[in-house]
Amino acid sequence: MLDLFAGCGGMTRGFLDQGSFSSVGAVEIDRAAAATYAANFDPTGQHIHANDISEYTDVPRVDLVIGGPPCQGFSALGKRDPADVRNQLWREFVRVVRESDARMFVFENVDRFAKTPEFQLLLRAASEDGELADFDTQVFRLNAADFGTPQKRIRTIVVGSRIGPVEGPQQTHAKTPVGDLRRWISLREVFLEGAVVLQPRVRETWLPESAVQFQGHEIPGAFKLRDLHVTQNHALISEIRYAHIAPGQGRFDLPEKLQYPCWRRHTRGAGDVLGRLCWDEPSVTIRTAFFRPEKGRFLHPQWENGGEQVNRALTHAEAAVVQGFDDRHLWCGSKAEIARQIGNAVPPPLARAVAETVARRLLTS
Ligand SMILES: C[S@@+](CC[C@H](N)C(=O)[O-])C[C@H]1O[C@@H](n2cnc3c(N)ncnc32)[C@H](O)[C@@H]1O
Repeated sequence: MLDLFAGCGGMTRGFLDQGSFSSVGAVEIDRAAAATYAANFDPTGQHIHANDISEYTDVPRVDLVIGGPPCQGFSALGKRDPADVRNQLWREFVRVVRESDARMFVFENVDRFAKTPEFQLLLRAASEDGELADFDTQVFRLNAADFGTPQKRIRTIVVGSRIGPVEGPQQTHAKTPVGDLRRWISLREVFLEGAVVLQPRVRETWLPESAVQFQGHEIPGAFKLRDLHVTQNHALISEIRYAHIAPGQGRFDLPEKLQYPCWRRHTRGAGDVLGRLCWDEPSVTIRTAFFRPEKGRFLHPQWENGGEQVNRALTHAEAAVVQGFDDRHLWCGSKAEIARQIGNAVPPPLARAVAETVARRLLTS
């Protein structure tokens, strides 16, 4: 298979874990993310194209192309700039699918992608007179929590096939389980009861001193999951604010005197801002700014009225675990670069569930 817009390789990780696939190519323009991909899946740097996808011309023949272009191009539709190159990246995806002669493709994107003109264009490419006319497409709207990820993260997955349809991926977990389904995985299970225990108290703010060589450049890394259990230097006033927010609460629960002046005028919307997570639930969707509580519900769940409180954002290690990565995955880049890789990734358990259904089709055709 070939992974386009591979990032740190979350999607590749899930497909390889499924067991039927091997990677023969990947494309990723961000050098740190490409170094992370290489550290995990391409140690000799043989197959990663760490450059713009439009310059990826030496396309190998594969059975499957997977990938998810960056979602920013699809997000702010109202103010969308038609010249924004990110809006055109799905076209590159289509080009590589054609040139690779793949029998199937898996295109991942944000939930709202299904409401964009680009989505319609992708479906049109796979219709009668389109560039991918011999592909049939199926669209799945999947929640990573239903597939054993401790996170509610809804994604649009388009599966294209020249060899017949696939079955919908098999859900393994549910909010209210029935039959064989297990309950959604909670933060308590993965932070405190997992293979790597991530203690709530953290003082370290720096990644360890270490570097790898990647295509002639020195990149910080390769870090293990435990190395990423580092916090931020939150300002004292921020910590005082965080201390007032109980699990499930957010900025609306701050006392008046601690409200940010600019927020007082906005009494609606963005309820997740400055939110605290809950021990016995999965996380909300992790984004690239997970280390900034002002950007979402990213406060650590440890909080007791008058008792022990942990007044900080999730660490990078906690965010990676919430994204379904385990301690096999290595990470390269600065703290900010690694945060971007984590927030952008497809949770490997979700990718694995999709891989299962795709493999079944490929292996029986
Ligand atoms: C949503 S992330 C992909 C995450 C990845 N599928 C995973 O599971 O980890 C999109 C990636 O596309 C990369 N990208 C953006 N523009 C690109 C381009 N023109 N060529 C190649 N990669 C690009 C970004 O650097 C980013 O890492």
